[in-house]
Formats: sequence, C-alpha cells, structure tokens
Amino acid sequence: MADTLTEPQPLETLPAAPARPGDRCCLVIFGASGDLTKRKLLPALYNLAKKDLLPKGFALVGCANQTFSEDEFRQQVREDLKQFAGAPDHCKFCDWLIERLYYTAGDFESPQYFQQLKPLLAQVDEKHGTQGNYFYYLATTPTLFGEIVRQLGAAGLAEENDGHWRRIVFEKPFGHDLDSAAALNREIKQVLAEDQIYRIDHYLGKETVQNILVFRFSNGIFEPIWNRRYIDHIQITVGETLGVEQRGTYYDQAGALRDMVPNHILQLVTLTSMEPPVSFQADAVRDEQAKILHAVQPYAPEDVLTRTVRGQYGEGAVEGNSVPAYRSEPKVAPDSQTETFVALKLLIDNWRWADVPFYIRTGKRLAQRVTEVVIQFRRAPFVLFRDTPVENLGHNLLVLHIQPDEGISLKFGAKIPGPVVDIGSVKMDFHYRDYFGSEPSTGYERLLYDCMIGDATLFQRADMIEAGWNVVQPVLDVWKALPPRNFPNYAAGSWGPKEANDLLTRDGRQWKTGQ
Ligand code: BG6
Repeated sequence: MADTLTEPQPLETLPAAPARPGDRCCLVIFGASGDLTKRKLLPALYNLAKKDLLPKGFALVGCANQTFSEDEFRQQVREDLKQFAGAPDHCKFCDWLIERLYYTAGDFESPQYFQQLKPLLAQVDEKHGTQGNYFYYLATTPTLFGEIVRQLGAAGLAEENDGHWRRIVFEKPFGHDLDSAAALNREIKQVLAEDQIYRIDHYLGKETVQNILVFRFSNGIFEPIWNRRYIDHIQITVGETLGVEQRGTYYDQAGALRDMVPNHILQLVTLTSMEPPVSFQADAVRDEQAKILHAVQPYAPEDVLTRTVRGQYGEGAVEGNSVPAYRSEPKVAPDSQTETFVALKLLIDNWRWADVPFYIRTGKRLAQRVTEVVIQFRRAPFVLFRDTPVENLGHNLLVLHIQPDEGISLKFGAKIPGPVVDIGSVKMDFHYRDYFGSEPSTGYERLLYDCMIGDATLFQRADMIEAGWNVVQPVLDVWKALPPRNFPNYAAGSWGPKEANDLLTRDGRQWKTGQ
C-alpha cells in the first residue's frame, strides 16, 4: 500500500545541556531604580534563579540617587518581579533574591559615596559568601559611565587582587559617534583592563541571534554555498511598531542610525557574513566579526546620497490604532529633524562577499514588529524551462526569523501537480517553539550569566565598537551637513519612505520582509 500523508505529530521538546551556576559574586547595579533594572535585569535574574544558574553565594546591591529605604526598595523589587517577570504572589525565588538584596542611595559623582560602598560590599561578602567578586552593571545615563569607572578605580573597587575578579558591564549606547566612543574607551582603560570590560549589545543575548553561528557552522550543507557564487544579496529588516515611548529625550538626540545600526544591526551583519572562527573562544569569534567590520566599504560622501535613506514618521495607524507623528511625541522637538527610519546598502569588500549587497533597514512605527535576515540565492539557469509555461524561475530564499516568530524557513520551487510543467513557490518552516518549547526570556539571562562565568564572547571589544562607529560615521557627517528637507516622509504603520523601496528596485530587487 502507498504511504499516506498523516497529520504532523507533536514533536518532543529537546532538553538543553546542564550548565553550572555562575561564580560566587555580588552584582552592583548603578541605576537600580530605572526602567532597565525593572523590565530586564530583575526578570533575567529571576529566570536565572529558577534555572539554578545563580551561585549560592550571590547578592545584589542596588545603587541610585533616589532616597528609598532598603525596605522600600525590597518591596518595589517584589512588585517589579510580579509585574515584569510574572512571578506569583508566593514566590520562593523572589524571597531568595530579596534576602540578598541591598540598596544604597547617593551621588555617583561623589567620592564619599564610593567610600561608603566599599564597607557595604565587604559586609555583603561576609554575609553571603560572595568572595569579593563584584560585577558592576552601569544602567545609568551614558554620560556617567566614565565618572563611575573613575570613582570605582579611586576607591580601589575596580582592582583585581587576591584572586577576586571585578567586571563592569556597560549598557548601550557606548559613545554617540566614533570620537566619543574612542574617548570613552581610552578613559575607562585608564582604570580597567580590556578583559574586565563587558560592553553589552542585548541582540547577542537573543537565542536566534546566537543560532546564526550554530546554523552556519554546525551544518555541512549551507557553508559551501554561503558566498558570492551562490548568494545574490542579503537583506536585514528590524521593524518596530512602537514609537519612542518615554524615551524622546534620548531618541531625539540619537536617531535610528545611532540607536540601531552600529550595534544591533552590525551584529547581525557580522554573524551572517564572518568566516568560521577557529573556536568559540571569545577572541576567536570577535576577531572574525571585527574583520568584517573593517571590510565594510567606506561610504564616500556621494555614496551617502545614493546608498542611504532616512525617514521620519508622520501620523498614521499602527495595528489598527491611530498614532501621532514623531514630532508630536513627548519630549521630541516639534520641528525635529531626527530620523526614525534608516535603510542602507552596505558592501563588504572581501573575497567571500565582493559584489553581494547587504541591504539593511530599521525603523519605528513600521507596519510590523519583525526582525529577519533574508538570504536570497542566485537563480538556477532557465534554459531547461524555455518550452514550458514557466515564465521565470524564482529565487531560493533562506530566512532567519530572529523575532517575534523565531525560526528558519526555506523557500523553493516545486512542480504544481498536473500534466504540464509549472512551478509553484513553496516554503519549509522550522519554528523554535516546536522543538525547544518557549521559555520566558528577556535576552539578558545569558549575558548576565556569561559575565558571572567570565565569558566575553557575546560582548563587544573596544576595537569592534570603534569599527562599528567607523562604518556609520560618514553617514552621520553627511546627514548632519545636509538636513532632511522632506520630513515627515512616511506614515506610521507603513514600511517606511518610498526611497527605501527605490534603493532595491534600482538594483532590480525588492524587500521580502512584509511582502
Ligand atoms: C534598543 C534601542 O537598543 O533596542 C530601542 O535603543 C529598540 O530603540 C530596542 O527599540 C529593540 O530591541 P528589541 O529587543 O525589542 O528588538
């Protein structure tokens, strides 16, 4: 009897390999009363505690300038864990975290504050067995980064001695252009060694981003065709439906290019295009990423005019709801010239990628929240089909779905059943949740954990940060010299300005995401 098709069977979820808890340590968060702490860091710690990945000797010291009492801070953290981590009312992991939670208010520019922090950390070591290992998380405004490091250094809190480690995590943004990033690197290196510095890019905490390397290098079938001979071009879209929320002050100074490209998007570019590293050791991976950043063809001023597009949203409708124009958002200048959308064509001048364009785009208030890397392969020769109804052959597309619907899909042509030869475009889909389930994750779990075990692979080295800024600096310069004349130039809820489509159609191509 012929095989019959059956309904797909539920798949067994594949278990993860066990990991050891992080080293004994005290996490000191500067900016502990801020949004990042409640929305990301606390939920990430809670998720790590549930998985037994926090060490038994663990404590958390919150530092901020608000004058709460320690009890008020603990109460606030309990509420935040409920609201942002989904913790239940009676929660043993919350109790565990709160038992080892401290708070100290003060001015981060005052040496006395750091003098007081010192005995507090010593007491915490004694009580919780954190062994003098401190990891400081700078979740403050970036203008304080240099100062906090200087103060930690002056108070003797950054020095690694007697087998204690001292690590510092820097939240994004690291600098606002090439010169300021280089200056900050120089400043913090007066106090810290490079291996104490963890510059975060939360995109690297996303499982699907980490999977780009595993997918490329653990499968024999993709890497041989991962080059200019078989790949026509690559597209990266990071679409957001949100506007600037409460971050108008920061965003109106930064804009979409600074906010997303030298960091998150270039991470996606480098992971997709880098050569195989010799190992998964931090520097082996980061060396290969850095080589790509150095190989990006620099934009001459005239290239900025032809290979970049900027946009700003006007009013419109997102997911059925009317939303205001960017210029009407809180804390945004009513005549703001800041871009909320950017599209770029990048070329990577190396042997593997010569003449293969990378088109990237990102924006606020777009039609869909979606992050995807689309690899479009070259067409097969048409010759065999010339006497059939087939008019042309499609491109094979491999799509790495980073978020929100995490997975990988492959589009290819298949014969439409029937007596004549005709081709339909079909898709093979892999969804993470089918094989691995889906667990609550903020993306910060892995990064906090790696910092506790001293693995810097997923953090950016000084040279990478500067190379990333170097890629976008000519664009920043030309855009500054030539202010936009047509803002707002896209409606909220659309896919950005028309010029972003022209960027591809001029090359005989089109955006695939959102089609
Ligand atoms: C941040 C940017 O770094 O990344 C935000 O400052 C942006 O503007 C966010 O919204 C996007 O992150 P995610 O994880 O939601 O894709």
